[in-house]
Amino acid sequence: MSLLVTGGAGYIGSHTASLLSSKGHRVVVLDSLINGHGEALSRAGRLGGTPLELIRGDIRSQTDLKRAFAAGPFDAVVHFAGLKSVVESIDEPELYREVNISGTAALCEAMRRNDCQRLVFSSSAAVYGNGDGTPCREETPLAPLNPYGASKAEAEQVIAEQFANSSGAAVSLRYFNPVGAHPSAELGEDPKVRNNLAPVLLDVAFGVREDLEVFGSDYPTPDGSCIRDYIHIMDLARAHLAALNATDGGPNHQIYNVGTGRGSSVLDMLEIARQVTSAPIPARRVARREGDSAALIANVTKIQQELGWKAELGVREMLESAWAWRCSNPQGYPG
Ligand SMILES: NC(=O)c1ccc[n+]([C@@H]2O[C@H](COP(=O)([O-])OP(=O)(O)OC[C@H]3O[C@@H](n4cnc5c(N)ncnc54)[C@H](O)[C@@H]3O)[C@@H](O)[C@H]2O)c1
Repeated sequence: MSLLVTGGAGYIGSHTASLLSSKGHRVVVLDSLINGHGEALSRAGRLGGTPLELIRGDIRSQTDLKRAFAAGPFDAVVHFAGLKSVVESIDEPELYREVNISGTAALCEAMRRNDCQRLVFSSSAAVYGNGDGTPCREETPLAPLNPYGASKAEAEQVIAEQFANSSGAAVSLRYFNPVGAHPSAELGEDPKVRNNLAPVLLDVAFGVREDLEVFGSDYPTPDGSCIRDYIHIMDLARAHLAALNATDGGPNHQIYNVGTGRGSSVLDMLEIARQVTSAPIPARRVARREGDSAALIANVTKIQQELGWKAELGVREMLESAWAWRCSNPQGYPG
């Protein structure tokens, strides 16, 4: 297939673009590089066996979208471009609406104009908010706790409406918590990302941060810290292949959780990180952080049954690969 990958120079986009390219698909990336890296794309292309084409532009710009689609025709779009920081979204809710919702709407409109009928979209478990205390099913009522989660829920709605009366098909993947790096240790998560647990754990192990702040000690979980469903970045990349196949004549808009179906607490992750890195990783418990839910775990029955996708890697492999990436790229990508 010929694919337009928005946000392909970012963390999840670069791993997925590399995998797509290794399967023989043509990949053109549209990315503003606001949080992405040209070097990630070069490496992703090399690892995938074919150089990836970059169009530097913004999904909110009609001119940039026109330039991107002029590089087509595309059989499908994989849409990663967006902003993802919960904390930043609380400070700048309008920016998150503009990029994550209006940007998605502009992209869908450009797809319609260019007769591109298949879409895979990066949604998030943040749409569930606190969930309902049991592993989240796709039907669990949405109750986002912050503007980031709300923007993803609304973007899904935009997609559902755009595809409702079309002959096309879209899949929204609700990612739980991606962690880990490419097995080559050449692609990974930008260590400057400060809001996710794994980069912070590795910062402490690496000696560039003093200790880990564990937000909250009184959540209703066995050890009092938050529980999340962590998913290996390579498993997540594979989920996009399965989702792309599902847009071939499938229903208009399908939603799938992407997780392992198992939860790990912050303290579980801390312990495994200590073992993987052989570093003491001091930790201290502090107050709860605004916008965090106690426990969020995916029910993954739907994606397993309908798409035949299942996570294969566990938390240890996630942290081992992330540590290998960090040790070979202490500052992240050059430049
Ligand atoms: N990483 C996570 O924990 C996580 C969890 C759930 C969902 N997601 C979603 O998955 C997607 C990818 O996440 P990621 O972790 O790879 O993030 P990332 O920041 O590494 O990648 C996003 C990419 O989008 C680009 N981008 C941002 N705004 C843009 C715009 N207006 N126009 C064009 N390009 C733009 C950035 O430059 C970057 O390369 C995002 O939509 C994010 O919300 C991420």
